[in-house]
Amino acid sequence: MFSAPFAATFDWSSGVLRGDTVHRSSKTLGQMRGLFRHGATSALPDDTLLYSVQWVAPGTPQAAGALLFGCTHLEPGRVGDEYFMTHGHFHALSSRAEFYLPVSGSGVLLLMTRGGETWAEEMLPGKVLHIDGAHAHRAVNTGAEPLVFWACWPADAGYDYATIAERGFGLRVVEHKGRTVLADQQQ
Ligand code: F6R
Ligand code: MN
Repeated sequence: MFSAPFAATFDWSSGVLRGDTVHRSSKTLGQMRGLFRHGATSALPDDTLLYSVQWVAPGTPQAAGALLFGCTHLEPGRVGDEYFMTHGHFHALSSRAEFYLPVSGSGVLLLMTRGGETWAEEMLPGKVLHIDGAHAHRAVNTGAEPLVFWACWPADAGYDYATIAERGFGLRVVEHKGRTVLADQQQ
């Protein structure tokens, strides 16, 4: 009755993507120390897992209009007072937007223009976060559980990580006296 040209499944309770063509990558603290304000002095080991991403690239990814689908599992924790976060990036093509849909956990999505204007949106299951193609985006896990979120974006969006590595985001998400607050980049 059904044909299955694209064989992948997504488990909405665990956020796990399965299929023949699921790719996976992960990031450890050792790869991201410089992005955290107190990364250099943190006693956490380099092999501390911050997040993993599973994604699928169905059909012909290089074809115009092709979409990618992925799911990120961002661990709970902090480097000093700063919550675990994704590296964050601009899309190389500023016309290429993206959706983030939180599956479980709780956190914050930091968004930033090329001019450095930065703001935050809440990440909670049920929210549909639309990311303008011109805005850098970084997820931050402020909860005690993994922050799991689904994403869909154009295959040709591309990644500009260098700008974030050089300049960071205009805001940091930190724990202060038991509360989650936004701090200026230099604080
Ligand atoms: C794709 C996208 C997500 C992220 C993932 C990891 O455009 O935004 O799939 O790639 O959440 O974050 P980064 O790529 O910033 O390490
Ligand atoms: Mn993106």
